[in-house]
Amino acid sequence: MAQYQALIFLSLVLLVAGNDCIWDTSTSFPEFSPLMLDSDLEMILPVLEGETSIVRVAEGSNITLVCPGSAINATKLVSAVATCIGDTQVTINDKTYSLKELGCLKKPKPSIKKGVGNCGVNGTDELHAIGFKIAPFVFYESVRVCFDGTTQTTLYTDHVLRGAHIAAKEVTPGRPGFKTGSGFYSVSMSRIYTKKSQLALMVKLLGSETLASTIINGGKQLYFSKGHMSPDADFVTEALQDATYFYINALPQWQAFNNGNWKQLEFATRTLAEEMGSDLRIYSGGWGVLQLPDVNNNPVDIHLGLTDGEQVVPAPAVTWKVVHDEKTGRAVAIIGVNNPHITSVPDTICPNICTSLEWVTFAVTELEDGYTYCCTVDDLRKAVPYVPDIGTVKLLASPTSGCRL
Ligand SMILES: *[C@@H]1O[C@H](CO)[C@@H](O)[C@H](O)[C@H]1NC(C)=O
Ligand SMILES: *[C@@H]1O[C@H](CO)[C@@H](O)[C@H](O)[C@H]1NC(C)=O
Ligand SMILES: *[C@@H]1O[C@H](CO)[C@@H](O)[C@H](O)[C@H]1NC(C)=O
Repeated sequence: MAQYQALIFLSLVLLVAGNDCIWDTSTSFPEFSPLMLDSDLEMILPVLEGETSIVRVAEGSNITLVCPGSAINATKLVSAVATCIGDTQVTINDKTYSLKELGCLKKPKPSIKKGVGNCGVNGTDELHAIGFKIAPFVFYESVRVCFDGTTQTTLYTDHVLRGAHIAAKEVTPGRPGFKTGSGFYSVSMSRIYTKKSQLALMVKLLGSETLASTIINGGKQLYFSKGHMSPDADFVTEALQDATYFYINALPQWQAFNNGNWKQLEFATRTLAEEMGSDLRIYSGGWGVLQLPDVNNNPVDIHLGLTDGEQVVPAPAVTWKVVHDEKTGRAVAIIGVNNPHITSVPDTICPNICTSLEWVTFAVTELEDGYTYCCTVDDLRKAVPYVPDIGTVKLLASPTSGCRL
């Protein structure tokens, strides 16, 4: 008996010694969570334990709390370093707080940091970062955007899908509006994306009201929507999800495709990442300019910027994703045709290998959902030279296997 008691006592001591901070995100978090970063300035993300989404931090470790654009409720400062003292408590300058007291006064405000590098063929285009200002000279990047300033279009975006955390992601109602940033566009992005101006543009470009009314038809999902490149739902926290709502993270995608095979592709990549339980780097971009036949059956390039009289903001002919498992050196490219109006199987820009991919199980051949095919990254790069060079990789065919190429 005494032995048992000693054992129980010992276990309790051990438990107390390893007294992590554990926060249930649905009960212990404030209304507007601050960004929480570890000492490497990596975002601290929840994990799903059973049915509960929790954030766990080791006792004694320091976490940086930041409220970009507002302040931490209890301290009225934009950021603070808090030390976990166990349970749900932290200290800041020797004062003890619960996380609930350390919420932001407003939702964390995302922003753009311009000119973080070069990209595109021969490095002639510019990389910009979307994320959060953490400190005067520290910017947390959640999405990188390779932007072509001449045609005012995004060539591709780059983000990391956190497979070990995505099941614990925050699901909140409501979406923020899209933000323009400054210095990217010479046309009104909010206007060119309205169905009304798209219909008027098609009348002008295709030369027929009757034809235009079959091309743009809201009831049939036939209009250009702001197609997220790095998708909202690939991010774990509400702040990171909200940070995807910038026009430079979107391309004009037919809603039937955006809500069809493009969405199915997004679901499939998240399922893949979740099954692998690790990070996947995802590049998402466009290529080419969509052409539609006018009333005389001549092909016409579609630039939404022509609404405002400028040949900018092209509707891409295709949008693509490169899914790269950097840890195991495996990758693959998936390409979707941005044209639900086609009536026969289109030519592909690289040889289709979808049948080799176990994880691509959606209805890729449906024309009205955006005909979709799969290629090696090398083959896509031969057709789209600004696809980033990721070196030699094996094929990402399933969560576990990789065929040698
Ligand atoms: C946390 O921060 C405090 C105060 O700056 C420092 O003394 C301590 O060593 C830090 N702890 C760790 C684990 O880095
Ligand atoms: C800030 O703290 C006060 C006092 O605890 C609380 O009443 C208020 O709701 C908090 N504000 C936000 C935005 O969380
Ligand atoms: C890139 O550089 C190569 C070699 O200088 C040149 O041949 C090619 O035309 C350039 N391409 C672009 C798009 O600038």
